Amino acid sequence: MIWIIFRLLAPGKKRPNAPVFGHRSLFEPDILLKSRFILGARDLIHGAYKKMNNQPFVLRRYDVDFLILPMKYLEEIRLISPDKLSSKGAQTGNLAPHYTSMQFLFHSNLHLDVLKKKLTPELYKYVDKARRELAFGWKKDLPQADDWTEVPIEHHLRTLVARMTAKVFMGSPTCRDPEWLKISVDFSVDLFTTAFTIKMFPPWMYGLVARVIPARYRTFRQLKAGRKIVGELTQQHNLVKERKQRGEKVEEEDTLLHWMLDHGTPSEVEVHEMGARQCVLTLASIHTTASNVSNMLYDLCAHPEWFEVLREEAREIARELGPPCQNMGVSAKEWCTRLDKLDSFFVESQRHNPVLLLNPQRLAYQDIKLKDGTVVPAGSRLAFANYEHSMDPDVYPNPLDFDPMRSYRKRMSDIDQRDLHKAGMTHPNNLAFGYGNQACAGRQFAVAEIKLIMARLLCEYEFKFPEGKVRPKTQHINENCFTDQSMNLMMKRL
Ligand code: HEM
Repeated sequence: MIWIIFRLLAPGKKRPNAPVFGHRSLFEPDILLKSRFILGARDLIHGAYKKMNNQPFVLRRYDVDFLILPMKYLEEIRLISPDKLSSKGAQTGNLAPHYTSMQFLFHSNLHLDVLKKKLTPELYKYVDKARRELAFGWKKDLPQADDWTEVPIEHHLRTLVARMTAKVFMGSPTCRDPEWLKISVDFSVDLFTTAFTIKMFPPWMYGLVARVIPARYRTFRQLKAGRKIVGELTQQHNLVKERKQRGEKVEEEDTLLHWMLDHGTPSEVEVHEMGARQCVLTLASIHTTASNVSNMLYDLCAHPEWFEVLREEAREIARELGPPCQNMGVSAKEWCTRLDKLDSFFVESQRHNPVLLLNPQRLAYQDIKLKDGTVVPAGSRLAFANYEHSMDPDVYPNPLDFDPMRSYRKRMSDIDQRDLHKAGMTHPNNLAFGYGNQACAGRQFAVAEIKLIMARLLCEYEFKFPEGKVRPKTQHINENCFTDQSMNLMMKRL
């Protein structure tokens, strides 16, 4: 009730000129519509996609109006530069940046540059490093059970992914530092909880509310600890640079942090900001990747006939290259580029289980007039209904079916389509990683990590649902999708 009063008192915002969708009647107050979006976004988006017939419409979240554009605008939007339509602006805005110490993201692109200019161009050099860490963490992070054992699988996967990612960004020994691994896993949850809670209230109350959110104090503690770790690494790197300048021969691990320290502006390399940036990178990379693997395992358990198909593909490669993640003489590229069926399974699993229901999202920094005269006012939050589009029978025949070889068939039947439908490739009909030059900059790395983890899991383990359990439903808070955190799987070594 208090919340309703607060929201009614909130000042109005400039709205796009498109109909608001979702009122149950003329008399339903906006506040009810907005509160239904919190847990009912999926149904609201579904209803709107069917009813609005390719016309722009507005969906109201409690803190923002989304201007949902039909897919016919996707290409035009893709070409508009980030200083006019910004993905970063939209994503950062979701983090309540002024209350979570995230404002620096508005003026810095270093976390994107490092992915685009270093990680992706030298992808397999870094994937190979991550694979070595996967080999190290495997027995520590996964139960080595010879009998069926019930495990919170995603919890184990998150630690594995955190290790692999930390190896690439921070190097050794930080990638084995329990404190950093814990930050890598917890920071996202606490930051999301903080931002979500703050934004339940009208903007004039943000400052007051922020003071009483326990998760916010946890994020501050994590940022403090992260900055200490990054500060020490920065000092070591600076010492190495000094010694090199003196002509000494010094060995230093090639990490993405070092690249950032060498390529950032003075404010970007300053410990306060760099520490926070490393935490933000865990936010983008750990839960997204781990939940994709969990979803693939849940899909496999729901369609167990595919276990053997994927396992056989991995085994065939293993017969030539040695067991996955063990023969380090062979690059991970050999594995990742050959796992075509697993690749296709991933694409289908991601189609059913995207991380966002509205994606790509862009914040308009200025008024934008589209070719057909549609105006996107400055300050609007644009979005596309990616999930509905991928469940549209005109786009994917029998869209509700889980058909894991959809992209495999397309890729194998037409040589020109081989790369187009690969996991990690963005495509107007596959927006799971966003679209255009602002799409997820870590997606190639994520896909490689996922393939390596899955190949090894398939070769070494069996999985099934616990007795009486079925595939868990995806949960939604606003447009965000989450795996069911209470779900366990049964696993045993093969
Ligand atoms: C399966 C795992 C992942 C999924 C599903 C995913 C998905 C996404 C999506 C949907 C976006 C928004 C794109 C857009 O607006 O067009 C995004 C942005 C981004 N992703 Fe990923 N991602 C994943 C893994 C990663 C990894 C491993 C990294 C880092 C190594 C990463 C770094 C980023 C960054 C830095 C952004 C941009 C955020 C911003 O602009 O503020 N992601 N990701």
